[in-house]
Amino acid sequence: MRDLEYAYLKTRIKQLTGVDLDSYRERQMRRRLTSFISRTSAPSVVAYCRMVESDKAMLEDLRSFLTIKVSEFFRDPLPFEQLKTEILPQLLMDRPRLNIWSTGCSVGGEPYSIAIILDKLTPFTKHRILATDIDTISLEKAKAGGPYRSNEVRNVPTQILREYFDIFEDSYRIKERIRQKVDFRRHDLLRDPFEGGFDLIVCRNVTIYFTEEAKMRLNQQFCQSLSPGGILFVGGTEAIARARELGLTTLGHCFYRKQPAETVMKTLPFDEDRAVKAMNVRR
Ligand SMILES: C[S@@+](CC[C@H](N)C(=O)[O-])C[C@H]1O[C@@H](n2cnc3c(N)ncnc32)[C@H](O)[C@@H]1O
Repeated sequence: MRDLEYAYLKTRIKQLTGVDLDSYRERQMRRRLTSFISRTSAPSVVAYCRMVESDKAMLEDLRSFLTIKVSEFFRDPLPFEQLKTEILPQLLMDRPRLNIWSTGCSVGGEPYSIAIILDKLTPFTKHRILATDIDTISLEKAKAGGPYRSNEVRNVPTQILREYFDIFEDSYRIKERIRQKVDFRRHDLLRDPFEGGFDLIVCRNVTIYFTEEAKMRLNQQFCQSLSPGGILFVGGTEAIARARELGLTTLGHCFYRKQPAETVMKTLPFDEDRAVKAMNVRR
């Protein structure tokens, strides 16, 4: 695909789907889109855009292709085990009700996995689990609690499957009791404002195609949205560059802790004006 065609495609994709490709790695995205469009009957990029404009199914295919929805319950069992045995119990020691944000949650496997773990750890506590994604079709399935196919629940132990899912042959639906624990909303990580005060933010397998600048901006925003001592949980291939500069301490492979309040206070730059005002003295 030539530069001009890619520039045109980027503009049209933003208008048609709301996805801003400026924050995605260009070489990879250009290669993927070239191969994707070549599998359609469109003879050119311009013709493809015209077809997408008038064909809802093609628009949906494009959206799915851009957002890569693949997900499953307890995806990567090892970090989920660390979440269950170390990270959540430690957070629960000094904050009994957790405020959690699962970003890029796709069809809901990730926030529901966390809801199941918390149901086991603290059965009588009402935590808040916010789950967001840019893709409204995925969010519809997430809100409905499925149905999920067997490959999406392959990491769920049989006992947990029986306890937390309604099972019909090869189809699994999360039980209403767990469904009610998660609040699903549309949110674009690259455009929408962030809430604050989260004890745990989960952002896994979402930033793999983002540019380095977009990732850095996002991680800064996550740091601001975490409460002191809060945890950021990322994917196995999404290690955070310059974590220390952002005020994050690494806790094993996929977890980062924001500095606790005392440390943040100690490392804040000295502000003479504020200090003078606080002491109520004249210079
Ligand atoms: C590969 S899935 C990962 C799902 C889940 N986090 C997991 O690890 O199983 C990536 C998800 O990120 C979402 N996504 C992509 N770009 C996004 C953006 N700018 N804002 C919010 N979500 C986004 C996609 O719609 C998709 O559902």
